[in-house]
Amino acid sequence: MSCPTCFCTSVIEESDMDGKSSRTERQWDSCFDVAFAKVAGGDFRARPRDRYRQWLTHKFSTWFDQFGSSGCVGCGRCITWCPVRIDVREELAAIAPPIAPVVQPVAVEPVAASPGTFSIARLASIKAETEDTTTLSLTDVDPAFLGGRPGQFVMIALPAFPAVPISISRFRSNGIDLTIRAVGATSTALVNLHPGARVGLRGPLGTFWPIQEAYGRHAVVVAGGVGLSPLHGLVDALVANHDRFESISLFYGSRTPEERLFRDDLAAWSASKEIDVAVTVDRAGPEWKGRVGVVTTLFDMISWDCTKVTAFVVGPERMMQASVQGLISKGVPADRICVSMERHMECGIGLCGHCQMAGRFVCKDGPVFRLNDLGDMFNREGI
Ligand SMILES: Cc1cc2nc3c(=O)[nH]c(=O)nc-3n(C[C@H](O)[C@H](O)[C@H](O)COP(=O)(O)OP(=O)(O)OC[C@H]3O[C@@H](n4cnc5c(N)ncnc54)[C@H](O)[C@@H]3O)c2cc1C
Ligand code: FES
Repeated sequence: MSCPTCFCTSVIEESDMDGKSSRTERQWDSCFDVAFAKVAGGDFRARPRDRYRQWLTHKFSTWFDQFGSSGCVGCGRCITWCPVRIDVREELAAIAPPIAPVVQPVAVEPVAASPGTFSIARLASIKAETEDTTTLSLTDVDPAFLGGRPGQFVMIALPAFPAVPISISRFRSNGIDLTIRAVGATSTALVNLHPGARVGLRGPLGTFWPIQEAYGRHAVVVAGGVGLSPLHGLVDALVANHDRFESISLFYGSRTPEERLFRDDLAAWSASKEIDVAVTVDRAGPEWKGRVGVVTTLFDMISWDCTKVTAFVVGPERMMQASVQGLISKGVPADRICVSMERHMECGIGLCGHCQMAGRFVCKDGPVFRLNDLGDMFNREGI
């Protein structure tokens, strides 16, 4: 909190009592704060040591990767003000040997280069997917969204609520679909909107699925729960270009049959010759005639040469780790596995610092990553 180069911020929403207007304010925040990396259902850096590692390695290491300079200006304030007398010089000497100082001055990019803007879109229709998940079809969108790519996301804003990141689940000729699970205040407000409502959109943001890299190969899509949402647009694109791939498969795991998303699309894909669809659920009643078990049990069905597979994986973090492990043990090369990562996001454009994962910002450098680009960040706790 005393460091002059800290730039983490949070977005605060204040609404008037009449419910007609609200104010959005960006305030200083700290990556030491316990809620800084909180996402729906958990916290990526729950332990103090994870937050301390984040701060220390950012200032003294990954700042060089990002900005070409040190994040420390040598003012000594953190040493002066630390309530428990941590001296970063001692910490650094313990973990890294001294290195020669940088002699060349480096140009530092301004951190807040682009504020990003929100455009207004209209809700054309809604479709309940499951008890808690709804697809919003948006129209009158800024044309930039129509040029978006599967895997990208938007920041969606409603007056009086913080903007939240949501993947584009489908591209239509006149708009986009967002499939949203109600887990907290903002997502619940979004799924309760009525057609005609207006929302603010920033985007399309982030990296996208590298579909061309799977040309001539077996394209394997592995989805867990609502993870099928960021993969839906990818499946549409694979199916539309099916003759470019050796084969296309979708392995989908859901907790129960009732929690499966896009059931009409799953049925249509299953009926088509262009894609093989296999679905499993964790638990089900006697009326379910399909597979029961975690999604990795479906990998028994893989009969082709796995060195020729390109895989796309999204789901809860544990499911992604197990799936990636399963694919690698089958022989899929790590540089042919793509994952989409989730982190707490507030700006979506690399300003606020919330989504930082070691030297990467998930909002700008991701959310889609190749596994080998993530290195050990993929499996490490507290990053
Ligand atoms: C790249 C990306 C794509 C996503 N795509 C989808 C999608 O397609 N469908 C879907 O249902 N969900 C998606 N999510 C998760 C979704 O953003 C969260 O569920 C949502 O932000 C929860 O907000 P809330 O206020 O309803 O919930 P709460 O848990 O009450 O949120 C509390 C506060 O934490 C913050 N927060 C919680 N989780 C997140 C988060 N992951 N990122 C940013 N802020 C968070 C919110 O700002 C909020 O103020 C995605 C997340 C990311 C990072
Ligand atoms: S969400 Fe703000 S930096 Fe990524």
